[in-house]
Amino acid sequence: MKLRSSSDRQHGLFVSVDGPGGAGKTTIVRHLAQMLVASGEHVHVTAEPSTSAIGQLASELTPTVTGHALA
Ligand SMILES: Nc1ncnc2c1ncn2[C@@H]1O[C@H](COP(=O)(O)OP(=O)(O)OP(=O)(O)O)[C@@H](O)[C@H]1O
Ligand SMILES: [Mg+2]
Repeated sequence: MKLRSSSDRQHGLFVSVDGPGGAGKTTIVRHLAQMLVASGEHVHVTAEPSTSAIGQLASELTPTVTGHALA
């Protein structure tokens, strides 16, 4: 993986992995984070919906609720 120069990295890099439920997002993010850490990068992994109660509710509603209700 080719990363930006050290001066560019001072500004950080935001990477978003999106896709359908069960597509493998968490798996690929875990591997990507390991690769970046091995390259000496500081990595913070987060996910939406979160594991909070409202995040779990959103996850459960995703297959059946759409549009403004899901937002
Ligand atoms: N490249 C792959 N090949 C085969 N199986 C995979 C692959 N990536 C992930 N999996 C498997 O698919 C399942 C779902 O993976 P994962 O939890 O990473 O998906 P997810 O997109 O984060 O799911 P969710 O939307 O529920 O958060 C897991 O059992 C995982 O081991
Ligand atoms: Mg996941």
